[in-house]
Amino acid sequence: MNKILEINRKIDPFKKIINVEGDKSLSIRWVLISSLSKKKSIALNLLKSEDVMSAINCIKLLGSKVKFSKNKCEIIGNGLHQNYKKKLVLDAGNSGTLGRLVLGLLINSNKKIRLIGDKSLSKRDFSRVTIPLRKFGAKFSRSKNLPLEMKGINSPKPINYLEKKGSAQCKSTIMLAALKSKGVTTIKAKKSRDHTELMFKHLKIPIIVKKNDKNFDKIKIYGVKKVGPLNYKIPGDISSCAFFIVLTLLSKNSQLLIKNININPTRIGIIKILKMMGAYIKFLNQRSYKGEKISDIFIKSSKNLKAINCPVKYNSSAIDEFLVIFLVAARSRGTSYFKDLSELDQKESPRLKWASKILKFMGINNKLTKSSIKIVGNPNLELKKKISIKNFSKDHRVFMMSVVAALTFGGKWKINDLDSIKTSFPKFLEILKKIKQQ
Ligand code: S3P
Repeated sequence: MNKILEINRKIDPFKKIINVEGDKSLSIRWVLISSLSKKKSIALNLLKSEDVMSAINCIKLLGSKVKFSKNKCEIIGNGLHQNYKKKLVLDAGNSGTLGRLVLGLLINSNKKIRLIGDKSLSKRDFSRVTIPLRKFGAKFSRSKNLPLEMKGINSPKPINYLEKKGSAQCKSTIMLAALKSKGVTTIKAKKSRDHTELMFKHLKIPIIVKKNDKNFDKIKIYGVKKVGPLNYKIPGDISSCAFFIVLTLLSKNSQLLIKNININPTRIGIIKILKMMGAYIKFLNQRSYKGEKISDIFIKSSKNLKAINCPVKYNSSAIDEFLVIFLVAARSRGTSYFKDLSELDQKESPRLKWASKILKFMGINNKLTKSSIKIVGNPNLELKKKISIKNFSKDHRVFMMSVVAALTFGGKWKINDLDSIKTSFPKFLEILKKIKQQ
């Protein structure tokens, strides 16, 4: 059912402390990697969103046992070899991460699997993983879009691969397939989030990561015979925080402390970019956890924000956050420029196009090309008009960006597809309510 959220006034000043839900990238990786161990893995604070539940359903079909209790999830997997009798249909729902990584996980299964997904996922590009997986020896019925069928191979051949898009999903898919191959797989990968590398290191899987090049990491992975259990306390998701960071920056006389967030350097492009624009954001109480960096984040309303010519070196580490970064550009003095962002149109919806559309509805001048956007900021913009946001392929981040825009720029908004938040951040509106409470 299409539920509509109506917002008719800006948010009042607030001073609050919040937690957000567990990191989605870490949650999906924990589920898939735990399914490879015959011993019990335990996660605390696993994100219970539709994307993660799709991952749980997939590993159950592949033979893993899963138990939930309160804030805890336990998985007993079935080792490196999947344990299913007949041809399976796996449903990745809306999740690109799951859809892609699960194919790497199944490289050594010589029974066919059929991978399906929702309407949005079925439009997304799977050739970025079918190309390398073919090199390992897998066969596919289609290379580019879902639904597709894959037949893996008993003994996958290790590969050398150049990953040029900066896609962590592609890199991680290859890494999972490499685990099951005899010998050494080498990946030269454009820099992207490195959670899989850190989890592999923590599990003592033989892996060498060289990060000395400015643009590319070199990764060597040796095939293994077994994987140990992975106990993990999942920290909060910076991509969920992003909406509240920008809400605070653009609201008057407000401040927010967000506790226990993963600030892995490959994920904090948003912080670097917003600080360059003059935002008040501080990391407090920094600590390390299983190779990841965790921190509390303190944000204060920020006036006099300035436009940015955004350095492309931050593109990958801010890839999921550009929609809200564009809202900050809309409030800044001057014209901001963001380039080399064609990957944004490969997400749950064509996000660069959606950003441009929403900014235009708001009366913010912007110029869009295939891979860039120029945004003419207006620090004094106060909206009065009616704005309706619909038909955005139920992209959770377009929904949440629109909510932040409505609460900070004013106007009378009708935002469709409220349930879209269930894919990544089911508690988004509940937390927002807590922030609004006087
Ligand atoms: C993700 C990687 C990114 C990101 C997505 C999650 C991951 O996608 O946009 O939300 O968990 O590996 P790409 O790998 O396509 O850049």
